[in-house]
Amino acid sequence: MDIQNHIKGKTVLITGGTGFLGRHLVKEFLKYNPQSIRVFSRDEVKHHHVQEQFMDDPRLRYLLGDIRDYKRLLRAMNGVDLVIHAAALKRIDMMEYNVEECINTNVNGVLNVVHACLERDVPKAIFVSTDKACSPINTYGASKFIGERIFTESNYSKGTKKTVFTAVRYGNVLESTGSVIPFFESKIKSNDPIPLTDARMTRFIISPQQAVELILDAIKYGIGGEVFVPKLPAFKIVDLIQILKGKHNANTGVKVIGIRPGEKIHELMINESEVPRTFSFRNRYVITSSIQQYQQNLLKPLYQQEGRLLTHQDMNEYGSYSEVRPQQEIKELFEEFQLL
Ligand SMILES: NC(=O)c1ccc[n+]([C@@H]2O[C@H](COP(=O)([O-])OP(=O)(O)OC[C@H]3O[C@@H](n4cnc5c(N)ncnc54)[C@H](OP(=O)(O)O)[C@@H]3O)[C@@H](O)[C@H]2O)c1
Repeated sequence: MDIQNHIKGKTVLITGGTGFLGRHLVKEFLKYNPQSIRVFSRDEVKHHHVQEQFMDDPRLRYLLGDIRDYKRLLRAMNGVDLVIHAAALKRIDMMEYNVEECINTNVNGVLNVVHACLERDVPKAIFVSTDKACSPINTYGASKFIGERIFTESNYSKGTKKTVFTAVRYGNVLESTGSVIPFFESKIKSNDPIPLTDARMTRFIISPQQAVELILDAIKYGIGGEVFVPKLPAFKIVDLIQILKGKHNANTGVKVIGIRPGEKIHELMINESEVPRTFSFRNRYVITSSIQQYQQNLLKPLYQQEGRLLTHQDMNEYGSYSEVRPQQEIKELFEEFQLL
């Protein structure tokens, strides 16, 4: 079914709708003429900014609320056809020091969202996960891993309820809140040394639009219990620094500061144990359920006909280190994404 048919005339709830991804989603969804989009988050100032950005579009509703508050979610989900769950606490270092807060939002909040979807019999719900959930090594990643599992596996414990729970997993969006490009550029402008954690570090490149398209695919193709992962190019952080220095015609120094607590050298999207239950499907990988008896249900015609189940001969794991592109190609990509 065309994406238009999934959204046109429908009521959509976006938790974290005032955040970086949320605002991109609102903009995209409005193109498909939804009945209404409920933007759900806590801070009234962020709501106000969204209101200004979309010039009081009458299809938008601004719901102040906290995903920790189940009753609030229940009310927010009245009559909703599609839920995108993007709300989360996501600063890695903050989460290391505020573990309980992280659990309350990123784990208990997800449970609330799932229970409210089931109670309201919402047809489809998408969880926005992250590469940090794959073989997690920090509190944020572990909380998103649990959130992802709550979402995908709820698909199989829902009884007669109809909600299709599915997830997407992607890495850092370069221009999102707290991203590295503006940070490096500020150092270049003030001629302070650019802090580099590790010269080996690599990252995938994903634009906000590509993150949105991944979610649209999960809406279109999701049959429940899977995690959609985009196939993407990657770059070395040292190459990004060179590109930014070139842009500003600067010869700012680089200071190696060592890897930060909870940080990985490479982004990992699919780990070794997930590979054998992953389909290569068009420009996506689709990781199917970890519960073996349900995997059969997921080997549905779509992924079989248009995709192929991976083996360890194809890859041991899917990480940014294996997708690194030459510096010139990266520069062109950044320019194409208007990041430079
Ligand atoms: N940005 C990336 O590079 C990236 C990469 C992979 C995955 N993700 C995932 O994508 C999602 C969105 O990320 P983002 O970059 O858009 O983050 P963001 O800009 O920090 O936005 C987070 C949103 O969540 C809301 N929120 C936080 N706690 C909440 C709560 N308890 N109840 C209700 N709303 C709450 C925030 O608004 P209030 O603070 O006003 O409540 C805000 O609207 C997250 O789940 C993140 O894990 C992001």
